[in-house]
Amino acid sequence: MNYQLRRERLLQELEQDSAVILVGNTEKVRNKNITYNFRQDNDFYYLSGFSEPDAVAVLRPNSDQPFVLFNLPKDEAAEVSFGHRCGQKMAGELLGCDAAYDIAELEERLPALLEQRQHIYLSDEQDRFSHRIFDWLHQQRRSAKFDEAKIFRSLHSVLPFIHERRIVKDEDELGRIRKAVNASVEGHKTVMKTAAAGINEQQLTGAFFGKVSEFGCQDVGYPTIMASGNNAICLHYTENNDDLQDGQILLIDAGGDYQYYTADITRSFPVNGKFSDTQKAVYEVVLAALDNAIALVKPGTPWNQLYETAMSTLAQGLIDLGILQCSHQEAMEKELYKRYSVHKTGHWLGLDVHDVGRYKNDQEWKTLEPNMVFTIEPGLYFEANDESVAPEFRGMGIRIEDDILVTQDGHENLSAGAPRTIEEIEAWMAS
Ligand code: GLY
Ligand code: MN
Ligand code: MN
Repeated sequence: MNYQLRRERLLQELEQDSAVILVGNTEKVRNKNITYNFRQDNDFYYLSGFSEPDAVAVLRPNSDQPFVLFNLPKDEAAEVSFGHRCGQKMAGELLGCDAAYDIAELEERLPALLEQRQHIYLSDEQDRFSHRIFDWLHQQRRSAKFDEAKIFRSLHSVLPFIHERRIVKDEDELGRIRKAVNASVEGHKTVMKTAAAGINEQQLTGAFFGKVSEFGCQDVGYPTIMASGNNAICLHYTENNDDLQDGQILLIDAGGDYQYYTADITRSFPVNGKFSDTQKAVYEVVLAALDNAIALVKPGTPWNQLYETAMSTLAQGLIDLGILQCSHQEAMEKELYKRYSVHKTGHWLGLDVHDVGRYKNDQEWKTLEPNMVFTIEPGLYFEANDESVAPEFRGMGIRIEDDILVTQDGHENLSAGAPRTIEEIEAWMAS
């Protein structure tokens, strides 16, 4: 079982007298007795596969009960109202835990589970029990014989250990990412086909979700960005309520979430299905930046090379477009391209859209390894009132974002199926 393997690997990295306390998420009230859609904490899910609210897992190496779960008890009335609970009896079978207790017993039982454990590792993103942890540790200190008490216990975050692991995906994760990406490719194709002057951004947002739902996605991994014309200047535009206009570029940044894993794809295309000469020229620059970066992806490539290559291509493109009037060297040294491209060009992708894990080891950029998955997403943005560019450029944002898997000897562009060249986009929209 993948989850068990992940737990074992984590515990192998920690001291033999440690205990890991993983606190799952609780539901958040939207209004009165209505909650927001529940989402388990991603680290909790990564190590347990358990998606019910109000659970705590205690992992202990070198123990006859390495995985103890506290979770909601069976409750007929609550289950009729709010859905199935696995309860304690089924938890062992479903999740492979060695013991399961009612979450109401956490306070009473936890101090005993921490006995003789010198290093305590905690994950509690919603701070549900962070304020209780010292009390639990002290309880045991007070009750222990003086020569047995672990007085100098240390408390750490377990997140760095989990997050470094999460950068490199296992086969189960890659399978889900592929499902999320394939569904999203279909979603993007649907939006391209449906877009036309007069259609509202919200309608297309719904069309995207409708299509990824057909492929098993129950959610999107982040609020869909459906940005026509100047709306694309806002990188995380989510108002999505303008009508599309002839002559505009529509930027859609959207990814379906398949069993907790998300895609993150951006396409930018003309609302009327035909790129103008100016739109074409800008699009070609952004696509070249993306393709030049993708071409470098293989094991051993330092992470920052992707950004630097993309930016170098954008800088040359801005010079060729007549927007920057300087040498390439000056554009790079003074970072003049940043006026039109403010964001970085990618991030790890997985359970989180901006997935966890560092990009450097100490001061050195990480190098790529097989089974890492990340986005590459260069863009150029010209604000409607930006007088530093000719009028035909203004009010347009073009970003192209693909999801890239590092393979043993190179890479695979998982999202290549969403039309991405000018020819592919125009042909798909006309078909
Ligand atoms: N959709 C958010 C991002 O591309 O980073
Ligand atoms: Mn992204
Ligand atoms: Mn994106």
